[in-house]
Amino acid sequence: MEAMLSVQDLVVNYGSIRAIKGISFKVKQGEIVTLIGANGAGKTTTLHAVSGLLKPKGGSVQFCGNNLLGIEPHKILGLGMAHVPEGRRVFARMTVMENLQMGAYIRKDTAGISEDYDMVFERLPRLKERRRQAAGTLSGGEQQMLAIGRALMGRPKMLLLDEPSMGLSPLLVGEIFKIITDVNQGGMTVLLVEQNAKKALEIADRAYVLETGTVVMSGDTKELSDNEEVRKAYLGG
Ligand SMILES: Nc1ncnc2c1ncn2[C@@H]1O[C@H](COP(=O)(O)OP(=O)(O)OP(=O)(O)O)[C@@H](O)[C@H]1O
Ligand SMILES: [Mg+2]
Repeated sequence: MEAMLSVQDLVVNYGSIRAIKGISFKVKQGEIVTLIGANGAGKTTTLHAVSGLLKPKGGSVQFCGNNLLGIEPHKILGLGMAHVPEGRRVFARMTVMENLQMGAYIRKDTAGISEDYDMVFERLPRLKERRRQAAGTLSGGEQQMLAIGRALMGRPKMLLLDEPSMGLSPLLVGEIFKIITDVNQGGMTVLLVEQNAKKALEIADRAYVLETGTVVMSGDTKELSDNEEVRKAYLGG
């Protein structure tokens, strides 16, 4: 089967600095694939290049049969790719409900949208209780849930998640990862970027290890978790 997302020889520069040095990876329909790596490895940059927020210097990005290079971010969203950025970025002054509405702004199927509010509230019950609350007053974990819920309201084919566990307590990290697993089991394909390699390897099917803009290892998460080098460098021994 052809991959849903196929990234080939991606190169991204910031001015004269080469941040991504020709990486390739694939995400197949129904998978959770994770890109793990330390601070500055190039994880966020990769997601930005894939979802059109940054223009790559070279390489190709294919998504559901479309070449994404040079396509504007909102059109990429329209093709079914939703990006939940690092640091969440909910609309702080808007309510939870209004934030979710924003996630559905590209859609016109009113009945489907109203079904999806129910779906989001079912998956994220904490949001339901807080639907009239300003998003800026939510806790960090709740804001992360809202960012994911907002992305789901676009009814995407693939979710790009940039460090959803960042800054959360271990309990909430567990809750967020459970949500990602549930959403995946509902049929969503997921590309997950994480510094929390342990948790990411637990829920993903396959992983790519990034170091300074290069893929240094990749494979099934089960094999990678047993790999001595991965254990030493990313899993604390
Ligand atoms: N706007 C920018 N201008 C110049 N250099 C940048 C810019 N954004 C990122 N970089 C550099 O590109 C490299 C990759 O950064 P990136 O944010 O992709 O890493 P990351 O893997 O997401 O790290 P983290 O885990 O800390 O979020 C780093 O060396 C970083 O300093
Ligand atoms: Mg990052």
